[in-house]
Amino acid sequence: MCGIVGYVGRSEAAPILLDGLRRLEYRGYDSAGVAIVNGDRVETRKCAGRIAELGKLVAERTPAGTFGISHTRWATHGKATDQNAHPHFDASGNLALVHNGVIENYQALKEELIRGGDTKFVSETDTEVLAHMIGKLYDASAPTNGSTPPQHEKNRLVAAVRVALQQVIGTYGIALVHRDIPDFIAGARRGSPLVLGVGKDENFLASDVSAIVAYTRDAVYLNDFDVVAVERDKFEISSVAGERGSYEVSKVEFTDEDIKKGDYPHYMLKEIFEQHGSVRDAMRGRLSLEECTAKLGGLEMTPAQLRDVGRIVLTGCGTALHAAMVGEYLIEQLAGLPTEIEFASEFRHRNTPMTRDTLVFAISQSGETADTLGALRESRRKGYRTLGICNNVASTIARESDGGVYMHAGPEIGVAATKSFTSQVTILALIALLLGRMRHLSTSEGTVIIEALEALPEKIEQTLKLSDHIRAIAKKYIAAPGMLFFGRQFNFPIALEGALKLKEITYLFAEGHPSAELKHGIIALIRPEIPSLFIAPDDAVFSKNLNNVEQVKARKGPIIAITSGSGAERLASVADDTVTVPSAPDFVMPVLTAIPLQLLAYHLAVELGRDVDKPRNLAKSVTVE
Ligand code: F6R
Repeated sequence: MCGIVGYVGRSEAAPILLDGLRRLEYRGYDSAGVAIVNGDRVETRKCAGRIAELGKLVAERTPAGTFGISHTRWATHGKATDQNAHPHFDASGNLALVHNGVIENYQALKEELIRGGDTKFVSETDTEVLAHMIGKLYDASAPTNGSTPPQHEKNRLVAAVRVALQQVIGTYGIALVHRDIPDFIAGARRGSPLVLGVGKDENFLASDVSAIVAYTRDAVYLNDFDVVAVERDKFEISSVAGERGSYEVSKVEFTDEDIKKGDYPHYMLKEIFEQHGSVRDAMRGRLSLEECTAKLGGLEMTPAQLRDVGRIVLTGCGTALHAAMVGEYLIEQLAGLPTEIEFASEFRHRNTPMTRDTLVFAISQSGETADTLGALRESRRKGYRTLGICNNVASTIARESDGGVYMHAGPEIGVAATKSFTSQVTILALIALLLGRMRHLSTSEGTVIIEALEALPEKIEQTLKLSDHIRAIAKKYIAAPGMLFFGRQFNFPIALEGALKLKEITYLFAEGHPSAELKHGIIALIRPEIPSLFIAPDDAVFSKNLNNVEQVKARKGPIIAITSGSGAERLASVADDTVTVPSAPDFVMPVLTAIPLQLLAYHLAVELGRDVDKPRNLAKSVTVE
């Protein structure tokens, strides 16, 4: 939700800020802006629309200057208009601020400023309140006896930031500049990510390292309540309360090359086609054929602790929650442990009864999803061991959990999650194997599971070869007003995931259901214009699925079937289109069946002329509640 980039150095700031924003566009893309200090002026350009629109505006009249801030927005308070685009200014017009997050008590703070008499608001945003508050505090602390050394100005601004933030309820990642303080940016975070990029004679602030990895791979991931004072050649971290902060400079694990689209027309397609590698990386070094189990040192749990786990809660949002649902089937089947799925947004606010021996997993690609983070914090607060399954190594969830498993899927830029899903499912299979081997699974059963997992990357490669066939199917259904997805057992969550992918990037209505639910109401929706997609691999429930397929056929509903093995033959007389993925045991099948659904959504979205990587109203990382 919103991306921010700040730069202070010796180069012209405008191209660096714009380049950074382009890389953060996945976080929000309804309006954008920059503010660059140029001598005695803060020059700003901002507008509703994509970064490309801002690029045109900047190209017309490029603000000169070597330090500045910028923002790409996903609107929370106030429509996507030029006025609401960040940066926002204080009353003097000298202080410019960008913000990612939500100031929950902004209305009360705004009323207080208005009562003060001299503050006029020009936007509908919560952010503007913060700009006014900091500006006012800064101006009020000005010495009465003329000018002061520059260091005093910096300290005064940082002090104003602290005092203002102490009054704020909500979340923020902010960056600000002031006309009168050359070569200086202040930043702070609480609940929204902020990273400091440490360069040579230049430093950066950004919501995500991908914005700055082209310039430096040395990063300091700021913690909640950190306030940072950034200059060209130094920086200082303290807390909102004014204490000196400690920090660690980390090496970013990926390079600029990893976040390029290469020859692919979209990130989403690139990421779909990376899945044989990302699934392999999720398993790398984590399978032991000798002990017939998974090795997951990151869980930081002894064998006795693992053995004593009595219940599992899996929580997350969206696609991550669908992976959790596959995990529920996996852990129950392979480890025999009661497992529950919790929408993170519900879990954190409801009083789920949990036994003492419950182990909680928070699943999140970004590691920054506000609801999942809230669930993690609530679970830890109650004293439950809470582990993360994250892709972003430096993320808040990764850092705040008691341990976990990294996905190692590489950066996922496309807004629709693809490779992170199959990595999450793979990791949940590893967890199920590990927990199972602590219980009833024999060495030979463990070996069978390991072999099935190890065979996956090659089977994914074969599945990806179906892309052209799936594109042809997508073309056939271009006029469909919506689509229904059905699956049973391990593939029920895949039906939900297939429907979500389709909704997100084609904007068509889509629903996912357990196949057998069809006759309990959904069948009323069946008509010749609405295709039903059945995920019906050749498994123990194939015949049951086939019954449901027949029920749709009898009502003239077109059928697309994702199947395996002899399924294609058995479906031949009923399915209009069949996609056959390689055969695999039922517990790994979701990794394979998810891929044709990703490709179907992708190809249909392209045929419909949708903006695949930046679907309307969405943002990749949902850091607001
Ligand atoms: C769907 C999608 C979202 C995310 C959800 C959680 O394609 O991308 O549903 O899965 O917002 O995001 P993370 O995994 O970053 O917590």
